[in-house]
Amino acid sequence: MENTVGTFEEAVRRSEAIWRDLPVNPQKYRVLTGDRPTGALHIGHYFGSLQNRVKLQGLGVECFIVIADYQVLTDRDTAPRIPENVRDLVLDYLSVGLDPEGHRTYIFAHSHVPALNQMLLPFLTLVGMGELDRNPTVKEEIEAAGLTTVNAAMYTYPVHQAADILFCKGNLVPVGKDQLPHLELSRKIARRFNQRYARGKEPLLPEPMALLSEAPKILGLDGSQKMSKSRNNAILLKATADETAALIRSAKTDADRRITYEPERRPEVSNLVLLISLCTGEKPEAVAERLGDAGGFALKQELTRVLNDTLAPVRARRAELERDADEVVRRVLRHGIEEANRRANATLAEMRVAMNMDYGLS
Ligand code: TRP
Repeated sequence: MENTVGTFEEAVRRSEAIWRDLPVNPQKYRVLTGDRPTGALHIGHYFGSLQNRVKLQGLGVECFIVIADYQVLTDRDTAPRIPENVRDLVLDYLSVGLDPEGHRTYIFAHSHVPALNQMLLPFLTLVGMGELDRNPTVKEEIEAAGLTTVNAAMYTYPVHQAADILFCKGNLVPVGKDQLPHLELSRKIARRFNQRYARGKEPLLPEPMALLSEAPKILGLDGSQKMSKSRNNAILLKATADETAALIRSAKTDADRRITYEPERRPEVSNLVLLISLCTGEKPEAVAERLGDAGGFALKQELTRVLNDTLAPVRARRAELERDADEVVRRVLRHGIEEANRRANATLAEMRVAMNMDYGLS
């Protein structure tokens, strides 16, 4: 049994050290992160991960952002809306400030990077069936999706994710706690590849590190579950100010006029307080204190105001993008895919030499 106990604390400690080092040595790091194109992003994504990516970009770190389109096929048979979802995703990224044209940021779809996908095969030989079986996150996802049969791509997607990370020698992956088992597997794959094929030489693949960010747990407007587009309880980033106001008006609260921050006892009210705090930078307790006996209506008014203020620049950028959206999306993808292919081809060529499969043909 490899060490799983203590891994989380260790990951937290390592992440904190990396956060301190990032502004000092941004060139040491290459970030890989991304999303499946299953729909437009919402404010949970914004406060949870998008802001973080923009921050990393601003530190001058090279950031590869994978649109994991093949991964969509792991838990559904067809994906009719993929092109629209990819478009939404790219526009969401750009409108929050990810900027492939002004920074070292690359947005690409992994379906369009053949050499990346080819790495899956040798990587699969480095992983045991038992290891795949034990992955807790995959198990949960299978349950959550209510799948009665599980396809092999679902079963092996953490290995595919290793290829997503390692093709560009990504060494830093912003993750939430639930993604740690996947990253641990990517680390093992890199380590085993190096041990098997690059023994006694410089390691060919880096062991990617987790960058944990304290992602706030944002509930949906129904207050009962995680915010999620499929649960219909989300405020999409592309929502207008009026739509946002209407959604917040419909949010669930309770009868107690006193505003408090008690996530366990009063999840609905506390969630709105948390959202205000994320917009204003105050502590949630301070927000509750400030609002006092104002009641649910005033709480919602305050959230509408600060959230619409926070999202105003995002919406302005989006409106500008919309004028020429299709062309912008194509340009961004072309640029990202081109660079991703360059990196993947270079890494695969090195891997082939290491694996003794270079026949001197190129
Ligand atoms: N699984 C991620 C999601 O569901 C997307 C993803 C694919 C990813 N490959 C990755 C994230 C590699 C980090 C690293 O959104």
